Amino acid sequence: MNKVLVVGSINMDLVAQVGQYPRLGETLLGQSFATYHGGKGANQAVAAARLGAQVTMIGRVGDDAFGRELTSALKNEGINTDWIKVSPATASGIAMITLAGSDNAIIVVPGANACLSPADIEAAESSFADADVVIAQLETPLATIRKAAELAQRHHKPFILNPAPAMRLDDALLDQVALLTPNEFELGMALGLPESEWRQALQQSPGKILMTAGSDGAWYCDAAGVLQQQRSFKVTALDTTGAGDTFNGALVAFWDLGLPEASRMACAAAALSVTKAGAQGGMPSKAQLLDFLAAQGGAA
Ligand code: RIB
Repeated sequence: MNKVLVVGSINMDLVAQVGQYPRLGETLLGQSFATYHGGKGANQAVAAARLGAQVTMIGRVGDDAFGRELTSALKNEGINTDWIKVSPATASGIAMITLAGSDNAIIVVPGANACLSPADIEAAESSFADADVVIAQLETPLATIRKAAELAQRHHKPFILNPAPAMRLDDALLDQVALLTPNEFELGMALGLPESEWRQALQQSPGKILMTAGSDGAWYCDAAGVLQQQRSFKVTALDTTGAGDTFNGALVAFWDLGLPEASRMACAAAALSVTKAGAQGGMPSKAQLLDFLAAQGGAA
């Protein structure tokens, strides 16, 4: 199984279920409230670990109860947390999530995630040397992501960037990325293109962009310049929070299988993830994923 290094955020998700989203200035009564472990980095680390990858995570939590709970939960998933540091006098990252039906709206307050520094990455250089593949997202400072890309390059390890939340990226960073994994909106933002031009963007970078497309699965362009679609799997969605993270975690867990097979596994894992509550609640084990695929008759 692949050795995966995750550089990213760790959040406590504060989730309110509502019948509909409030308008500006409106107070609505919600239906339920729960806290779940989250953060794009932590979610991707857990998704990969459940699928059997050997995972190390670099991140930061605050010196508070959330930070202690989140770190110990990652340890319980079998993730190496040696490089998760505590930022004194700082709150852990949180995400305020409003769930209406299976859709969500999210506000992230980075807290300690904003303290993850290029020096933290340099300090963890040995973990780059050990990894087969490195993945990061955009919930920690960009200077830190750049340093992670640089170290991945220094150690000749593929650097996967999930450009979420969406932001414009410069060519220097994009050149260091082995694979970019945006959704359609994030792709437009990252490259500074209209969303409608995603096909051309994929065709200009064969094998370098894997675009997730929700119920349409995922798209990439093969070495021959032909657009390829990995279709999604039909499930009843309960909570779509973390579906993209499950996709990314599965992708790196199965990195050695190559893009067509790894993206099939990733679409199946993402489908299973939305069937339970919380970002990490529905992330499957490898056995659950293989059972699901067998039940689909190997379809999709
Ligand atoms: O991608 C879902 C995640 O985004 C949530 O777990 C939340 O913490 C935010 O980071």
